This record gives sequence, C-alpha cells and structure tokens, in this order.
Amino acid sequence: MIIEKGVLDSFARLVEDEQANTAEGKLKVGVDLGTANIVLAVVDENNEPVAGATYPSTVVKDGIVVDYMGAIRIVKNLKNQVESLLGTELTEASCAIPPGVVSGSVKAISNVVEGAGFDVINIVDEPTAAATVLDIKDGAVVDVGGGTTGISILKDGEVIYTADEPTGGTHMSLVIAGYYNVSMEEAEKIKKDPSREADIFPIVKPVIQKMATIVKGFLRDYEVPAVYVVGGACSFEEFTAVFEKELGIKTIKSNHPLLVTPLGIAMNCEKGA
Ligand SMILES: Nc1ncnc2c1ncn2[C@@H]1O[C@H](COP(=O)(O)OP(=O)(O)OP(=O)(O)O)[C@@H](O)[C@H]1O
Ligand SMILES: [Mg+2]
Repeated sequence: MIIEKGVLDSFARLVEDEQANTAEGKLKVGVDLGTANIVLAVVDENNEPVAGATYPSTVVKDGIVVDYMGAIRIVKNLKNQVESLLGTELTEASCAIPPGVVSGSVKAISNVVEGAGFDVINIVDEPTAAATVLDIKDGAVVDVGGGTTGISILKDGEVIYTADEPTGGTHMSLVIAGYYNVSMEEAEKIKKDPSREADIFPIVKPVIQKMATIVKGFLRDYEVPAVYVVGGACSFEEFTAVFEKELGIKTIKSNHPLLVTPLGIAMNCEKGA
C-alpha cells in the first residue's frame, strides 16, 4: 500500500527543477547527512516546501562522518546553491542522526553542519523526522536508507522507542555485485534500473526479509497498527509485501521515499522541537 503526500510531490518537483517557491516569514532548513545522499531541504513556517537540493554521498557511513572536510564542502555547496535560488542567506538548520548512534558521532554530524555555516538549533532521529511528514501519531516508522534500518515507534503522537541496525540499500548492492560478479557501481545501476526489477527482486529479497526480521525484533514488546516505510531502499514494488508477510502487520510506503526524512528534518527546525 502507498500513501501519497502532496508535500512530497511538491518538494520533489522543486529539487528536480532546481526552483524555489516564494515564501514569507522564517525559513526552516534541514540537512540530512546520509550514507548514500546528502539532502538540504527548506520549508516555510507552515511546513510548505520552499526549495531543496541533493548530492550523492561517500562521506558518511551509517551516521558516522568518514570524510569530515568532504562532508563540509558538500553541505556548503548545497547551502550556496539553495541560497542563490532563494536570494537570501540561510542561517539556522536542524540535522538528524540514526537512532542509537553514540554522542561523539552526533557531535561530528552537527559539527559538519556548523562547519558549513549553519547554527544547528535541533537534532532529531531520522525516522522521527519522517513521521512528521507522514503525520503519524500511532505506528512504527522504518527508514531503510543506504546504510541502516532505523525505527521510531509512536503512540498518541509521542515517540516511545527508537533503534537502528546496519542493513540498507548498500547490502542489496553487495548481494547483486556478488551474484553478477560486477563492481558495486555497476550493481547500484542494475539495482535502480526499473526494467531489471523482475530479475533483481529475487536476489535482494533475502536482504528485505532480513530487514523485516530486524524490525520484528524491535517490535517485540510493542503492538502497532501499521508500519510505515521510507528511505531509498524501499523503492522496490514488492517491498511492502515482503514486510507484511514477515511481520503480519500492514505495511505502508510513501511516495518519494528518498525525500521523506530530509523534508521532515526541515519541518523539525525549531528550537527544542
Ligand atoms: N529506485 C531504487 N531502487 C532501489 N534502491 C534504490 C532506488 N533509489 C535509491 N535506492 C537506494 O536507496 C539508498 C539511498 O537511500 P537514502 O537516500 O534514503 O539513504 P541515506 O539517507 O543516504 O542513508 P542512511 O539513512 O542509511 O544513512 C541507496 O542504497 C540507493 O541505492
Ligand atoms: Mg537516511
């Protein structure tokens, strides 16, 4: 099952077309330092998308900054790019971490965003950020990115549990690289080619089952009405069906799964949010 969110369509269009909407009032900025992609998102006070930009990442691995200067450079470039679209300077931002990373890594992530010229006013958990966009009050939000599978469980609008394990899209590419005996770059291309999905899916299915097993472990002590999946690794057509089979819980995917967490980080750009 898929939920379609208009805000995600409008944010995707802005990123794709390299356009900015006019906005009144304070701008809220979110920086997502992902394993696969770095995304900068801007929304207005009403959480309407204003602008955004994205760049492929090799500088962060599962919430750990492995190339500090490279990461700062990319965030600075994205900041400049979006500022020239907007014709205004961006000063404050929020950033996000996979749930459960140690405090030293949290500091490294916010230092990158500060190093790029922002005041970091809030740090949120990635799946919690996604829950803001999807407007979830009850259920589990699972973010399957390039490197990790993170979860936030919400009850009556409150986050009651968060956790994270290293398994993501990179592991799918590893399996494909092994199967076809090709490089990781080639495996990434094959994986994202929709015309090859029918051949690829049986090869990556065990990785999806493994992700579902991880989520099942996280949900052991909680009863949730539904599981919401976001992040690039859930892009496969039959992803939710595999989760539903393993979990026995309704699993819902959103449109533009790659953009949910970054947009949610921007929506959480408020002091003490
Ligand atoms: N169409 C697609 N089909 C399959 N996988 C895809 C597709 N598009 C993107 N991906 C995969 O999604 C992953 C990137 O997703 P995302 O941008 O959510 O991760 P990230 O935020 O950078 O990583 P993390 O949150 O784990 O640090 C990559 O592994 C990429 O190969
Ligand atoms: Mg991510």
